[in-house]
Amino acid sequence: MKKIYIKTWGCQMNEYDSIMITNLLEKKNGYKTTNIPEKADVLILNTCSIREKAQEKVFHQLGRWKKLKNKNTSIIIAVGGCVASQEGEEIFKRANYVDIIFGPQTLHRLPKMLGQVEKNNLSIMDISFPLLEKFKNTSHYEKIGYTAFISIMEGCNKYCSFCVVPYTRGREVSRPCDDILFEISELADKGVREINLLGQNVNAYQGLTFDGKICYFSELLRLVAEIDGIDRIRFTTSNPLEFTDDIINVYRDTPKLVSFLHLPVQSGSDKILQLMKRSYTTDQYQKIIEKLIHVRPNIQISSDFIVGFPGESEKDFQKTLDFINKINFDMSFSFIYSHRPGTPASEMIDNTPIEEKKKRLYILQDNINQKTMIWSKKMLGSIQNVLVEGISKKNIMELSGRTENNRIVTFKGSPKMIGKFVPLKIKQTHTHLLKGEII
Ligand code: SAH
Ligand code: F3S
Repeated sequence: MKKIYIKTWGCQMNEYDSIMITNLLEKKNGYKTTNIPEKADVLILNTCSIREKAQEKVFHQLGRWKKLKNKNTSIIIAVGGCVASQEGEEIFKRANYVDIIFGPQTLHRLPKMLGQVEKNNLSIMDISFPLLEKFKNTSHYEKIGYTAFISIMEGCNKYCSFCVVPYTRGREVSRPCDDILFEISELADKGVREINLLGQNVNAYQGLTFDGKICYFSELLRLVAEIDGIDRIRFTTSNPLEFTDDIINVYRDTPKLVSFLHLPVQSGSDKILQLMKRSYTTDQYQKIIEKLIHVRPNIQISSDFIVGFPGESEKDFQKTLDFINKINFDMSFSFIYSHRPGTPASEMIDNTPIEEKKKRLYILQDNINQKTMIWSKKMLGSIQNVLVEGISKKNIMELSGRTENNRIVTFKGSPKMIGKFVPLKIKQTHTHLLKGEII
């Protein structure tokens, strides 16, 4: 039996795609996964190109695999994901020992491509965008724990000036509503309790129903909430641009939807937001949050930030810090702006020194970490509903689970609790980690 080794970098979409690849090759094509690259017949790299460093990492990794191929020339190396989509032929030029280049939308063609390479010993590339085809051709998501990610849409039409996603993943396309609901029902039957709806822009979801009508994101959320067995619903990532009142109303009506929202604002300066082509203002963002707090007073908000965007002055950065205080974010993923070839921002004049950008990132992260700590401390003594995921990685005498606001809680309990919701009293708090006690 041939062995495959998959290395995955980047966002949750990539993680999801790698699971699809594994299912496809194991179930339909008789390959077996190995965790040891030295033992593999096929090495697959699922790549990310969101920032420069992620992209460079790909060629370092391929260099390592080249050594394995030098020893055993029958090894097949396949490169997929966003770097494959963006670079295409260039990968063959820079690493001529690569056999297959596939894109995020053509992963289901991998078995056929592998067969062709084995037969003809010629390299092959397919980075086209046959929309939704991969979902029709891959086996259903397998249960891997009590919480599951489900891709509901792909791609992005927003073309923020700094971002490669619209070019690498293609335009927005939504999966049919019934396919998603069927998949979630199957997972619920297998014991999954929490669903995380996945997409580059989930709130742009517009899936077809069985009778040809359009189902919008708010409606999809309500339908998922009706599925027996699913008791917690999350989604990643949404965009402030289409965060309409009908979605806010779901927060009002549907307790299964968590009181925790990742809504990337990117900057607190309207000038920078405009240069980023984000198509909303800080005021509009704040209004969304105010409406959410109105229907869910305990909601916590996290965000992504880009610091050192071309033209970001000290004053603009200060506006971001002020905005962080205003919204009182719970958490963030924050990055220094990374120049991405082919994007409009890469043509803009960028004269802030890198040392200054690093300083700004440090200040921003320090600021948000303090807020995370304060939010965690507020939880001390409270009762939290925890979905128990398994034995704690740090201490085998303890169990570990997650709160609604995504904090990991460890506690002493019985293994029978795994896969169930358990109310716990929070006894100790660290920034991201809590200790709890059964009540
Ligand atoms: N659809 C999401 C973002 C997806 S990309 C949204 O609307 O916000 C994930 C994150 O990567 C972005 O939120 C952004 O903060 C970061 N990112 C994207 N391109 C980047 C770049 N060129 N440099 C630095 N960070 C970037
Ligand atoms: Fe990227 Fe903006 Fe879309 S950040 S994924 S182009 S919403």
